[in-house]
Amino acid sequence: MDYKKYIAEKIKVDGVTSEEIYDCLALPPNMEMGDYALPCFKFAKVLRKSPVMIAETLKDEIEVDDVISEVSAVNGYLNFKINKTGFVRATLDKILEQKDSFGSSKEGEGKTVCIDYSSINIAKPFHIGHLSTTVLGGALYRIYNYLGYKAVGINHLGDYGTQFGKLISAYKRWGDKETIEKGGIRALNELYVRFHQEAETHPEYDDEARAYFKKIEQGDSECLALFHWFKELTLKDVKKIYDMLDIRFDSYAGESFFSDKMQPIVDELKEKGLLTESRGAQVVDLEEYGMPPCIILKSDGSSLYATRDMAAASYRKKEYDFYKCLYVVAYQQNLHFKQFFKVLELMGKDWSKDLVHVAYGMVSLEEGTMSTRKGNVVFLEDVIHKCIEKAYKVIDEKNPDLENKQEIAQKVGVGAVIFGALYNNKIKDIVFSYDKVLNFDGETSVYVQYTCARANSVLQKGGTPSSYDLPELCAEEIELVKVLSTFPETVCSAAEKYEPSYIARFAVDVAQKFNKFYFDCKILTAEDELTKNFRLVLTNATLQTLKNAFALLGIGIPDKM
Ligand code: ARG
Repeated sequence: MDYKKYIAEKIKVDGVTSEEIYDCLALPPNMEMGDYALPCFKFAKVLRKSPVMIAETLKDEIEVDDVISEVSAVNGYLNFKINKTGFVRATLDKILEQKDSFGSSKEGEGKTVCIDYSSINIAKPFHIGHLSTTVLGGALYRIYNYLGYKAVGINHLGDYGTQFGKLISAYKRWGDKETIEKGGIRALNELYVRFHQEAETHPEYDDEARAYFKKIEQGDSECLALFHWFKELTLKDVKKIYDMLDIRFDSYAGESFFSDKMQPIVDELKEKGLLTESRGAQVVDLEEYGMPPCIILKSDGSSLYATRDMAAASYRKKEYDFYKCLYVVAYQQNLHFKQFFKVLELMGKDWSKDLVHVAYGMVSLEEGTMSTRKGNVVFLEDVIHKCIEKAYKVIDEKNPDLENKQEIAQKVGVGAVIFGALYNNKIKDIVFSYDKVLNFDGETSVYVQYTCARANSVLQKGGTPSSYDLPELCAEEIELVKVLSTFPETVCSAAEKYEPSYIARFAVDVAQKFNKFYFDCKILTAEDELTKNFRLVLTNATLQTLKNAFALLGIGIPDKM
C-alpha cells in the first residue's frame, strides 16, 4: 500500500490535484511530529489564506480511520500519524513476498530506453575519466530494466578519425605484433604518443597518417585489418574492466558504423534549407538559439562528430523506436549535445525531445595517491586493482581468519570504486580518495557491506522465521521500516532524475537505521520469543532490501566480512 498516496487522496484543496499534494507530502524530521507532513504555505497563494488557517481547516475535514490514526495542525503544517502496525506489517510482508523483485515495477512495460554510455575511444586509455559514464550508465541500465523498461546499452565506440591513420603509420614504423598483442591498449597508446612526438619534427608523418586513414575508409584490406585488430585488442582489454564492474552492452555500433549513414542526413538538411556555407564548411546556423553553428561537413567534405551523432540518433529511433535515448557523457560536451539536439528539432524530428544528455561532473584523484606525472593518464584498471589491494589489507587486519579473503576484497574494492562515483549527485566534480571510499565508518559501500555481513550473521544464528506477529514496536524499528518502505519510490525517482545516487544514499540510510536498531534493540536476546521472531524478520527484510539496492548499483555483497 502506498501510504503517501492514500493520504494525498484524502486531502482536498481547491485548484490543486492529488498528484501535486502527493509531491508536497514530506517526511517530518522526527517521528513525534508525525509520519507525513504537508507544508501548507505552498497553497497560501492559491487559497489566499494563511498557512496556519489552511492547516486548521484541512485538519477538520479529514477523518481518522484504520490507516490514519491522527491528524494535527501545527504552525501551518498538517501532520499525519499512520497506524503503525498496519504499515509495518504491509511493508514487511511485501518485502518478504517479493524478495529479489522488491522495488521493481512494470511502469516501463512496452517502452524502450536507449542508454549510450562508457563509449570508449579505440586504442586510447580507459582512464579514471571514464569511470562515471561507465558506472552511471550501468546503474541506469539496471534500474530501467528493473522498472520494466527494455533498456538497450550502447557503447558508441570512438573508432573513427585520422588517429587510426596515425596508429597505422606508427605501427608500421615502430611496432611489432608481439609487443602490441601483449601490451594491449597501453602499447597502442605508447605508439600513438610516440607518433605525436616524432611528427613534430617529421611533418610528413602526418600526411602519411591521413593517407592511411583514407585507405581505411576506402576499404583497403591491409589497413582495415589493422584497424580491426586495434579495435579487437582494445575491446579485449576493456572487457576485463567491464566484467569487474558488471557492465553489459547490447550494441557496440560506434562512430565508424555511421560513417556511411550520414548522406541522408546531409541531404535532408539541404532539402529543408538548413545548411549554409561558412568558410567552405557546411553548417547549420544556430545563432538564433544562442549557440555557435553546428558544423556538418568540413571544407574537405569529411564528416564530424556531430554529424555521426545525428546519424546514430536517427538509426536508434528506427532500430529501437526508443521512448527515451540517454547520453551519459561529461558536462564538457554540453554544447555538442545541445547543438545536435537542436538541429534534429529544426529538421522536424519530433522525437528529438526524447533525447537526453545525462551530464556528469569530473573525477580526479586526490593528489599523492598515485603518481600522476604530468600528462600521464591514470588507468581505471590500476585504480580498481589498488582499491582491491587496499581492501585486502584492511580486511586482513580486521579479520585475519576470514575465509575467501581475496574474493571478499574484490567485492569490497570494486564496490568502493563504483560507490565512490555514484554516491554524490552526478553533476558534482569529485575527488577520488582511497581512504575515503574504503572507510568502514563512512558513507561508503563497505559500511553498507559490513552492515549486511552483520545482519547475515544475526540470521545465521537466529534463523529466518517464515511468519511473525507484531510486538509493541519501538521507535528504531518503526524508523527502519519507514526507510525500507520508500525503496520502490526511490528506484522510480532515480530513473526519473537519472540519479543512481538516490539509491546509494538510500542504502546508507538503511544501513545507519539498521545499525541503530541493532545496537539499541536486542535481537537474539530479545525479551520474549515474539519480539525476537519479529526482529529477525525485520533483519531479514533489511538485508533483502540492501541486496536489491546494491544489485542495481552493480555492487556485490559478501556473506561474511
Ligand atoms: N567517445 C566519446 C568521448 O570519449 C564519447 C561518446 C559519447 N557518445 C556519443 N554518442 N557522442 O568523448
